[in-house]
Amino acid sequence: MTIDLRLNPDRMLASFNQLASIGATGNGGVHRPALGEAHLAARKWLREEVERSGFEFRIDGAGNHSAFLACGPEGATTLLLGSHLDTVPNGGRFDGALGVIAALEVLKTMKENGIRLKVHLEAIDFTDEEGTLVGLLGSAALTGNLTPDLLQNPRGGRQNLVAGMQRAGLSDEGILSAKRPRESIAGYLELHIEQGKRLEQARIDIGIVSAIVGISSYQLSFVGRADHAGSTRMEDRLDASLGASAFALAARELVMRDFPNCVMNIGDMSFSPRAFNIVPAQVDVSLEFRAPNESDFEKLDSALLALAQAEAKRFGLELKSDFHGRHSPTPMSDSIQSAFVGACEVLRLSHTALVSGAGHDGQSFAGICPVGMIFVPSVDGTSHSPHEFTKWEDCVNGANVLLYAALSLGQ
Ligand code: HGY
Ligand code: MN
Ligand code: MN
Repeated sequence: MTIDLRLNPDRMLASFNQLASIGATGNGGVHRPALGEAHLAARKWLREEVERSGFEFRIDGAGNHSAFLACGPEGATTLLLGSHLDTVPNGGRFDGALGVIAALEVLKTMKENGIRLKVHLEAIDFTDEEGTLVGLLGSAALTGNLTPDLLQNPRGGRQNLVAGMQRAGLSDEGILSAKRPRESIAGYLELHIEQGKRLEQARIDIGIVSAIVGISSYQLSFVGRADHAGSTRMEDRLDASLGASAFALAARELVMRDFPNCVMNIGDMSFSPRAFNIVPAQVDVSLEFRAPNESDFEKLDSALLALAQAEAKRFGLELKSDFHGRHSPTPMSDSIQSAFVGACEVLRLSHTALVSGAGHDGQSFAGICPVGMIFVPSVDGTSHSPHEFTKWEDCVNGANVLLYAALSLGQ
């Protein structure tokens, strides 16, 4: 049965623009790091929008915010549609927000057309997808994939997590209690911007995600000795900056030479004691790396840590490593990929299969329920930047594919 249904693009654009104004940085971007003031303001807007639209508002112990539409029979499972309202620092207004706004618009369209399904629908905004604090915090909590030590030793620092929890009224116990019975979840669908150039260059409307890369984070500390920067001979120094810098360059060469389908990133280096006239005693390096499959993931992990050890030794330094969690490479479900293909065909939209180089909340649902994602083109592939942009027509296409996939999976 195909229903000729379309969402309301103007209504969706109005919501999107209202949301984009919260934490706006004035140059088209937004700054809404998880559980900061702007993020909490965005969640306040979402709650009001959910209640204005006549849905049941829900919030769980991990702070996940959602709109619930009981369009299935009593006791039905729930199909989750969503993404995240938190952003990276000085990020773009589409990453995450588009998926939440589109999910809400799908529920509005279903509700106003009185659509009944075999499942209930829930549009959800997950806490801290970006890892400002933990990473996939809300979705990992909901699926029972969060461990207490990830809250005690998060990649964003325990102090920042506690401050965020206090602002948001969350607690360790509450977050860990957010787990839902897996049998209550029918599946998870997410619309997201591609954050790459493939769709734009190929002039294809929709990317149907086949898998999401694995992501691992470490804090590596290169430890030397503080000395006087003037009176210490160069050959006598145990200069922590040398190990950290040599590792950064060598790690890039290693990945490009031996792991061409993987990536690594050093997003921060912090020096101590941080003074012009002191030889750096310690440099902390924030290392993240990604791989599309488990075997490359394991090999890359060992290769990078061995390299860090070797570069530390080369400069007479000690190496300390602090593991901050990993999300495994995650294949998307065939059933949901086929639903997305069917939706693209009904809507006459071109589509292709893509592996996601970005991490997403869908990784938390691996092994829990069917999970799938679609991408829409990013102009110039830019993301995690105020210059992130996707044409509105492409956003509407993606939201309609989400609508049709939810219809076909829910009937
Ligand atoms: O970092 C990522 O891959 C995603 O944007 N959270
Ligand atoms: Mn995202
Ligand atoms: Mn992101």
